[in-house]
Amino acid sequence: MRIPEDKIEEIRNTSNIVDIISGYVQLKKRGKNFVGLCPFHQEKTPSFTVSEEKQLFKCFGCNVGGNVFSFLMEYKNISFVEAVEEVAESLGIKINYQQQSFSDPSGLEELYEINTIAAKYFSSNLFNSDEGETARNYLKKRKIKPQVQRSFGLGYAFSEWEHFLQFAKDNNINIAKAKQLGLIDTKDNGGFYDKFRGRIIFPIFSPNGRVIAFGGRILDPSAKTAKYLNSPESPIYLKRRSLYGLYHSKDEIRKLDKAVLVEGYMDLIALFQQGIKNVVASSGTSLTTEQVQLLSRYTKNIIVLFDADSAGQAAASRSIEILLKQNFEVKVVTLPEEHDPDSYINEFGKTEFENLLNNAKNFLEYQTEKFKKQGDLDDPQRETEAIRELVRIISFIEDPLKRNIYIKSISRKFGLREKLIESELERFFSQNRSRQTGSNQQRFKQSVNGIKTDSKIREVENKFEKEIIILLLEGIEEVMDIIFDHILPEEFINPVYKHVAKIIFENYKKDVFSPSIIVEQIEDETIKDFVLSLSLNNDTISTRYGDDFTSKEVTQKNLIKYADDIAMRYKVLKIDEQLEMNRKKIASGISEEEILELLKLNSELEKEKKTMLEEHNGK
Ligand code: GTP
Ligand code: MN
Repeated sequence: MRIPEDKIEEIRNTSNIVDIISGYVQLKKRGKNFVGLCPFHQEKTPSFTVSEEKQLFKCFGCNVGGNVFSFLMEYKNISFVEAVEEVAESLGIKINYQQQSFSDPSGLEELYEINTIAAKYFSSNLFNSDEGETARNYLKKRKIKPQVQRSFGLGYAFSEWEHFLQFAKDNNINIAKAKQLGLIDTKDNGGFYDKFRGRIIFPIFSPNGRVIAFGGRILDPSAKTAKYLNSPESPIYLKRRSLYGLYHSKDEIRKLDKAVLVEGYMDLIALFQQGIKNVVASSGTSLTTEQVQLLSRYTKNIIVLFDADSAGQAAASRSIEILLKQNFEVKVVTLPEEHDPDSYINEFGKTEFENLLNNAKNFLEYQTEKFKKQGDLDDPQRETEAIRELVRIISFIEDPLKRNIYIKSISRKFGLREKLIESELERFFSQNRSRQTGSNQQRFKQSVNGIKTDSKIREVENKFEKEIIILLLEGIEEVMDIIFDHILPEEFINPVYKHVAKIIFENYKKDVFSPSIIVEQIEDETIKDFVLSLSLNNDTISTRYGDDFTSKEVTQKNLIKYADDIAMRYKVLKIDEQLEMNRKKIASGISEEEILELLKLNSELEKEKKTMLEEHNGK
């Protein structure tokens, strides 16, 4: 059953985000917007902002944001459909459900559907089949109770080569899509086979509880194959952006304002079963920036709990760095050798385990102790390197106050003057800065934040582009007409603005102008956050740029004129840039012929510019 698209539209248009959210959060009017204490994280001063005009909300503290449906999904932990139903009910709108005649233009729904069916199939193999007996015994040996197995949706893949394949055919599952999801693969000599065989299956859920992938653990310890097999990336599974267990643990993480990070599926489930429910697992890889971003919606406090082996410790160190860069408060627990969280809690019990957590060390203590154990502090040369490494790590902390506390701590520990450590820190700062320009992720962030750019013109361009995006996000058709008449998304220079402009343009072509619908379609969390903050920023459009633009307040009524103005000025800027480039080329000693060519081009550009200015001023 599904809700017809036009019904969703009706519900969206009839509802008022301020009314709905007011049922859960006390809102006060401030400027154009409403503000209140964020229900998604602990705060004393309100950073939770709701715009009635745009029908959007965003918390500037924890970055949760979206439209009325996203609010309910997040707040009540429900699906999109449930959120729509809830709003409909509150408005007294009756929904006539459609039969499952799928309109699924992106094809994503079908992928989710296949994974859901597969998860049920695996689960039924585990609980209801004869061959499942071995798997049931295995899980019993691993001390996972059936009830917990069910709540994590665990399953079993038969050891046969084509069992799932047959099941898929019998159930009209699209084989090409099943392959895309990594459930089956092609044989060398044609035909298909099951990817997961003879394995315990761990479904991987999205934060909203949809099955996006699977992990499978081999049962037979003598099998000459990887212990764990994971689904490949697919349109619904981006490894860098998913955290195992988050769907199950996010409420508890929010409630305790603290998360525990472990490596394995088994670790997470074992802790959960014992009542430690604020856990997420990185699933063996080292933590990614995107995973940390995702987690930061729920808490900024984390205890890193990796295996005692050297791989685990190395992963812990890398994770600490990434966490610090995103302003997490990081503590570390080191387990005794030979143990992982699963084996430890099963051997020593919950209370012992909680003792470990309560005695977690801050990352600096942890790292210092690690150096001590390795004998790095016994030799002056190595000690210098070790201290330098500690300083390098704290150079990632953004908060100057916090950084200062760590500087003091290092200074005390090693009997060094603070000034010395500070100057060392300075060195790392400049290194961090120069490295930032290197990595893609950082470049992306930089272009999101605005605006370190190469030349003067570029910087101005950036301001224009940002301004144009903000205008587009006002959701006014005429404003969009004017802008898209002059500028197409491809012309944007800043890759992030270009991306956002494209999304807005695609909607515009379909006569969709409302920012609350547009935001719903942005999949990338970073970009969505960014768009929300642009859109819900409280200051008026022009004041941010002082003299660059007209300094008087731009009111709703003036927006159209303003859009026209900006579009024209941006165009002129581009022409000026082109002119300047051509002039440089001419001066660089090229052939006579080329010079003539460029001069001609420039005179045409000048003409175009003149006409444009005249037309504009004549208006
Ligand atoms: P058990 O041995 O069942 O207790 O699992 P574990 O979680 O303790 O395994 P381990 O500490 O070896 O690995 C931690 C995590 O790394 C696992 O949960 C997997 O997510 C991942 N992992 C381990 N081995 C493999 C492998 O061979 N291939 C892949 N892709 N991932 C693995
Ligand atoms: Mn283990």
